[in-house]
Amino acid sequence: MIDFRGRPTRDEDLDWILRLETAEREAGWIKGSTRDQHRAWFGDPNIAHVVFEQDGDAVGYAILRGLLSPDRDIELKRVVVETKGKGHGRAAIRWCRHFAFAEHGAHRLWLDTYEHNVRAQGLYESEGFVREGLLREAARTDSGYVSLVIYSLLASDAG
Ligand SMILES: CC(C)(COP(=O)(O)OP(=O)(O)OC[C@H]1O[C@@H](n2cnc3c(N)ncnc32)[C@H](O)[C@@H]1OP(=O)(O)O)[C@@H](O)C(=O)NCCC(=O)NCCS
Repeated sequence: MIDFRGRPTRDEDLDWILRLETAEREAGWIKGSTRDQHRAWFGDPNIAHVVFEQDGDAVGYAILRGLLSPDRDIELKRVVVETKGKGHGRAAIRWCRHFAFAEHGAHRLWLDTYEHNVRAQGLYESEGFVREGLLREAARTDSGYVSLVIYSLLASDAG
């Protein structure tokens, strides 16, 4: 049986995370952040910075924020897996869903994704996320302005 789990990100994970993040930013999937920004998130009680491990090997990471939200509205700010198409992304989304709803009593879990990121959208939709709308050209990226698709899952959707 596969052992997939999330654990708090550690300082020694940061070189690997920044490498992944740079590659994904250059590929046009995410924005990316600086080392200092990641470090600041580690100590923020409103934020969970998580590394996913499968059978003990780090396979990806996620950042969730809004753990202290009075609206119980948690944002999946970023999710990245190193090896695509092997189910790690789906396992990560399921982990985030359990973390938000079962462990943190969220009412809503939401995220945005670049309009051209159909792979991520396919995953979110297949996990029950509802497409809420489009923020036109809301993100400024290396290759220009990009629209953001908003997705959410409510506690009542998550079951
Ligand atoms: C998005 C991401 C997390 C998905 O993880 P993954 O491990 O590749 O995805 P999985 O193998 O778990 O799931 C694949 C599912 O995604 C969907 N999918 C995959 N490729 C797709 C494509 N080209 N078009 C539409 N849907 C696609 C399908 O629903 C698929 O499920 P299936 O294999 O059962 O058909 C991963 O590709 C990634 O890290 N991408 C770069 C960073 C990124 O885009 N992050 C999200 C920003 S919002």
